[in-house]
Amino acid sequence: MYTEKVMDHFTHPRNMGEIENASGVGTVGNAKCGDIMRMYLDIDDNGVIRDCKFKTFGCGAAVATSSMATELVKGKSVQEALSVTNKAVMEALDGLPPVKVHCSLLAEEAIHAALWDYAEKHNIKIEGLSKPKNDISEEEEKPEY
Ligand code: FES
Repeated sequence: MYTEKVMDHFTHPRNMGEIENASGVGTVGNAKCGDIMRMYLDIDDNGVIRDCKFKTFGCGAAVATSSMATELVKGKSVQEALSVTNKAVMEALDGLPPVKVHCSLLAEEAIHAALWDYAEKHNIKIEGLSKPKNDISEEEEKPEY
């Protein structure tokens, strides 16, 4: 059911934990399944993501997608981090079963929420970033494949 990469990131998650005094922190949940994900970003003065960590209280696919998402945003600029969509995370994991696609949306939204927090704290605007939702379950009916 799950690809080797999903199993690898689930059993050996990368970048799990917290960042103290993070530049941006974002938490999103899905009220339908009850899963919650929190992302921490450490962003340098040039707007480059130096480090990213996550904490996920959720299913295995949510853990695997958070882990992969942290790997994908590291080293990117805040603008480039917007390209780490749920689709990009799924592709990097060689796919997810259709019933688990919503788990990858949690990862995308958690990154957006952390970027939003960073932008608010620094009084900047990140082009193309809109205010993230705290609960993504309303979007579930139309996931971005
Ligand atoms: Fe809810 Fe996976 S079942 S995030």
